[in-house]
Amino acid sequence: MSPTEPHIITEVRELRGWAEQMRAEGRRIALVPTMGALHEGHLSLVRLAHARADRVVVSIFVNPTQFGPNEDLKHYPRDLASDLSRLRGNGVDVVFTPSVREMYPEGGATWVEVERLGEGMCGRHRPGHFRGVTTIVARLFNVARPHVAVFGEKDYQQLVVIRRMARDLLFDLEIVAGPTVREPDGLAMSSRNAYLTPEARQQARALNAALHEVRELVRSGELDSKRLVAAARNRIEKEPLAEIDYIEIRDAGSLEPLSRLDRRAVLGLAVRVAATRLIDNTILEAV
Ligand code: PAJ
Repeated sequence: MSPTEPHIITEVRELRGWAEQMRAEGRRIALVPTMGALHEGHLSLVRLAHARADRVVVSIFVNPTQFGPNEDLKHYPRDLASDLSRLRGNGVDVVFTPSVREMYPEGGATWVEVERLGEGMCGRHRPGHFRGVTTIVARLFNVARPHVAVFGEKDYQQLVVIRRMARDLLFDLEIVAGPTVREPDGLAMSSRNAYLTPEARQQARALNAALHEVRELVRSGELDSKRLVAAARNRIEKEPLAEIDYIEIRDAGSLEPLSRLDRRAVLGLAVRVAATRLIDNTILEAV
């Protein structure tokens, strides 16, 4: 691991020049896109990137186009100094922190949208969200020119949508997925966990508990999606502060809805715990 400080780049032009030079030297570049408020989940992706490439770029950019009008864009936690100190010692070469204008030049009219995959699950509850994600990720790919880009399974639908975008747009890079990193009590790490009051934080454990219960049911032979979803719903509804956005079981690859677990599936859920929207998922495999 490189003990040196990462180089901070804020301009597209400079990152392009750096990437061009690295490529000319035959270096493999890995990109880890983030919105900052970094935690162990992000750092696990950085370590994966480091293992797969010679140079690591972490982007920190709170991307306005993926937030809905009533979402938390204004309040999203931003603390560059603390993010930089977390990245130290993890082998990061460049931290890219562009301004909004830099990533969205005046007068822009172009979007990247993956049809269908972005429609159900989080897509239904956050219209335009995945269009914002794919639009910024495509731009980051074009600027950082990575050979490898690393994303977390925590945002499972996002991962599937980005894989499809990269394939459809013929991006010459590999998408690598990192497993979900959890707090000791099972709650998936998320920048938004910082919004939770102690009471809400306690009740948020129900998300992972519900996933665990569903995996146990599948292990005991239950393959009916409705019944599995009902079990997850019952567990989460025990918490007075929890309000379910959705709980769905879908094909793990195509994200088509599944009424029966006759193939590899994903159970995805989104729950508001005292107004903080949390997501989690688990892969379900009938054996
Ligand atoms: P952000 O929420 O900051 O997440 C950045 C990356 O970290 C994503 O790939 C996400 O899946 C991953 N991640 C988050 N929590 C994780 C956890 N507990 N364990 C493992 N990985 C985790 O996702 C975004 O930002 C944005 O949509 C982005 C892709 C940067 C585009 O703006």
